[in-house]
Amino acid sequence: MTIVVVGVGADGWAGLTDPARAELTSCDVLFGSSRQLALIPLETPKKTWPSPLLPALGDLLAGHPGRRLGVLASGDPLLSGIGTTLVKRFDDVRIVPAVSSVTLARARLGWSAEETEVVSVVGRNVHRVARFLAPLARLLVLSSDASSPAAIAELLTAQGFGDSALTVFEQLGSAAERRVEGIARTWSAQVDPLNLVAISCAGGPGLPLLGLPDDVFEHDGQLTKRDLRALALARLEPLPGQLLWDVGAGAGSVAIEWSRAHPSNRAIAIERDAERAACIGRNAETLGVPDLQVVTGAVPDALDRLPAPNAVFLGGGLSSWRRCFDALAPGGRLVAHAVTLESEQVLAQAYRECGGELTRVAVEHAAPLGGFTGWTPARTVTQWSVRK
Ligand SMILES: C[S@@+](CC[C@H](N)C(=O)[O-])C[C@H]1O[C@@H](n2cnc3c(N)ncnc32)[C@H](O)[C@@H]1O
Repeated sequence: MTIVVVGVGADGWAGLTDPARAELTSCDVLFGSSRQLALIPLETPKKTWPSPLLPALGDLLAGHPGRRLGVLASGDPLLSGIGTTLVKRFDDVRIVPAVSSVTLARARLGWSAEETEVVSVVGRNVHRVARFLAPLARLLVLSSDASSPAAIAELLTAQGFGDSALTVFEQLGSAAERRVEGIARTWSAQVDPLNLVAISCAGGPGLPLLGLPDDVFEHDGQLTKRDLRALALARLEPLPGQLLWDVGAGAGSVAIEWSRAHPSNRAIAIERDAERAACIGRNAETLGVPDLQVVTGAVPDALDRLPAPNAVFLGGGLSSWRRCFDALAPGGRLVAHAVTLESEQVLAQAYRECGGELTRVAVEHAAPLGGFTGWTPARTVTQWSVRK
């Protein structure tokens, strides 16, 4: 079975190149949405995707052994599209792309690929956009539906970027293409469900990707403070696509900064206190990483069945360090912080058994003292860090 995934623009058959038409003409069966299939004037048997598609996909395609199957996708099949799923699940997949909605929108605006960030909120939480907000940033957001532009405008306004200019492109590349412009804080337009939102960010100042100030987190005091957090993240060494466990996550600050370091980073925050776990979820949304997974439960049981991490931060539940170390993939990093004598002894034992680095960190901040200024020490933290 060969699968040929052909990207089709909103202009349908008329906009397809000759090679793309030839690919479709040589197929035995065509799959797609009813809208997409209606664009293709071929007599080839056509199958409309069921909803939901993903659970049925394997059986649908496997029902045609030895045949050449054509799959219709919109624009670039590997941009937030069916092509990505198919190349992961099947061996013999050819991709024939058309111009994507992102490329069309950039062309309309004169925005280069290099200076434009692309974010998808298709079926996803709109707070993902918050991670990309920065003064003068140019963003293109793939929308879920007609409600997405208003939700994006509301988010921008709440995050101090209400002056940003929005351009909503409807039905790009079709005869019905339309552009709606406005400012985030006063946005009220009704738009077509097939749309893409361009944002010229204005306002801010926005948040740094690393070294977030403590006051951007909602917390009850259980927060790894900025200086210690920076030291922990330096040893955790975030790398694109890697997974962190933040064990005893408190307000979730380490998991959130790990996730913000790169859009493909993933993190699981494990917290036994239900109110704190809920707070982690709220912080993750506000700070632009709503995909962060929160597990409410106590270690070690809460770690059962979690995917193997590339890095672990232990801010609590230190007695489970061995379990975490064993779970790490080769090359993985573990960082643990202790502030009591008892937990420090746990780390001293771990250091004897596994090596790594043991470091004591005492941070003092200058603060008013009478009419003068004096040093106010924070609790000294013992940090154990190790690479597996
Ligand atoms: C699942 S993504 C697929 C993107 C597609 N693979 C591409 O290359 O453009 C669907 C989203 O892309 C955007 N989109 C796709 N085609 C569009 C069009 N013709 N006009 C405006 N937006 C479009 C919309 O934001 C839509 O919700």
